[in-house]
Amino acid sequence: MTIYEELCSALPSRPLKWVVTGSAGFIGSHLVDKLLSLGQHVTGIDNFLSGNKSNLEYAVGPSSVRKSLFRFIKGDVRDIQTCSEACEGADLVLHQAALVSVPRSFEEPHLNNSCNITGFLNMLLSAREAGVRSFVFASSAAVYGSQPEGAISEDAPLKPLSPYAVAKRTGELYASVLSGGMRAAGLRYMNVYGPRQDPSSPYSGVISIWARSLLEGRNPVIYGDGRTTRDFVYVGDVVQANLLVALSDIRPGLEGGIFNIGTGCPVSLEKLLSTMAGEVESLYPDRKGKEPVHEPERTGDIRYSLADISRARELLGYEPRYSLEEGLALTIQSFINTRM
Ligand SMILES: NC(=O)c1ccc[n+]([C@@H]2O[C@H](COP(=O)([O-])OP(=O)(O)OC[C@H]3O[C@@H](n4cnc5c(N)ncnc54)[C@H](O)[C@@H]3O)[C@@H](O)[C@H]2O)c1
Repeated sequence: MTIYEELCSALPSRPLKWVVTGSAGFIGSHLVDKLLSLGQHVTGIDNFLSGNKSNLEYAVGPSSVRKSLFRFIKGDVRDIQTCSEACEGADLVLHQAALVSVPRSFEEPHLNNSCNITGFLNMLLSAREAGVRSFVFASSAAVYGSQPEGAISEDAPLKPLSPYAVAKRTGELYASVLSGGMRAAGLRYMNVYGPRQDPSSPYSGVISIWARSLLEGRNPVIYGDGRTTRDFVYVGDVVQANLLVALSDIRPGLEGGIFNIGTGCPVSLEKLLSTMAGEVESLYPDRKGKEPVHEPERTGDIRYSLADISRARELLGYEPRYSLEEGLALTIQSFINTRM
């Protein structure tokens, strides 16, 4: 049994109280789903800036047992009272709420600052005040800026290139100096994908956008030559990382509380598209994948992004469980199910 499997089998007999911010969003709703499936008590907070009710409905499901374990606060992490109310009596906090759009962080830097820095600080301080044991927060690979080719470790020099990335880095620094006795750890997610990622948002991940294009028989758009590489991590592995770090006993030092969360395997956009097209063709043999349309690279697009995940592996026992093929099959299948 892996450490994660052991943890999942032990949790149901040890119900804990969790807070998940951004619970109506993509990653937050998967965290809620998993925690409820393990019999945990969960308080979700969301202001629906980019999340939606159907994500929550999916996550909680129709079962009355799951419903009784879940409490939802429609509220804003920019409001400290909301944060304090949510954290009262909580054991663990998974802070995911954020303005997630890099372009919007340039257009509305004050909104980025209030959600991603003030909101972060409100949650950190409320969790500390409430005596929460562990505060886990979503950081981002965006803090690295442009990377050379090859896997990047947590100790690499940082170069945040957007207000969004500046806010994520600020959160890491606040956590390192303000968490008091509470364990605080930040997860630098790489490119996360999976069911319920909103394909209609212009800021969605490329996978949800291409899944929709392929299923609707439209030509997918590739910005640049297709040889750009990314570390695409399935959302189930991000859930794994959150639970492992939240429940681990390690007490990392100042910068040691930061973990890259990806797969450690680079995938070019070309390869990604051909794998996705193959998956769609296996489900609909009459539907041949349309040729991609190449458009110029967008300003600010990063050429290479790949995580060195050895710290998470060694200290947490994190091990990605979903291959690209498996993750894509689950994602495409869920798009098909929600369209029917
Ligand atoms: N998806 C990725 O590839 C990725 C990569 C790196 C980091 N992240 C981080 O992971 C976290 C979750 O991202 P996601 O992909 O699920 O995005 P998402 O937009 O689906 O989820 C974010 C949620 O936060 C909520 N929210 C925003 N501002 C809020 C506020 N002020 N108060 C309460 N709720 C608020 C939104 O309504 C939404 O439901 C974010 O912190 C994001 O920055 C995601």
